[in-house]
Amino acid sequence: MNTVIYMDYGRENVISDKIQSILNEQINKEFYSAYLYLAISAYFDEIGLKGFSNWARVQAREEVDHGMILFDYIIERQGSVNLTPITSPEARYGSPLEVFELIYSHEKYVTESINGVANMTDEECDLATRYFINWYISEQVEEESNVDDIIKKLKMFGADKASLYHIDKELLTRAYKPHTYNA
Ligand code: FEO
Repeated sequence: MNTVIYMDYGRENVISDKIQSILNEQINKEFYSAYLYLAISAYFDEIGLKGFSNWARVQAREEVDHGMILFDYIIERQGSVNLTPITSPEARYGSPLEVFELIYSHEKYVTESINGVANMTDEECDLATRYFINWYISEQVEEESNVDDIIKKLKMFGADKASLYHIDKELLTRAYKPHTYNA
């Protein structure tokens, strides 16, 4: 039997327990987002929309980056990472427009969550984490805007099969670029 020995280095967290806890919760939400986008990617693939599938797959990888940036930050601040179970996402969705409306409401939820982290840093007078979380605030503005652009296109042209084909081709060009935290 293996014995795991935890060493107590007498290290003190630089971040408060409340900040550590809310950042760990945010890691879970980012990894759940990756799961959600992967499920959506698989769904679009199943119904033959390879471009939509690609878009969601790239988004899933960006969500993993969001989770890892938080993960690295907690470690950098000498805190403890606490990885909790990730809920299973839905596996069945509707039309592309319905899926993107669901994505939009999910991203609004993530934005509120990030705002909650920012408010907590104010309450805890944690200026370093406040500065750090600004990157996520900007990222959410960009994400909501990107999703909104696709919703507008789908509302305008999505009912027409030829137009849907062209939107699908356009979304096939989305390429993954690693997201890094640039303060
Ligand atoms: Fe990491 Fe889509 O929020």
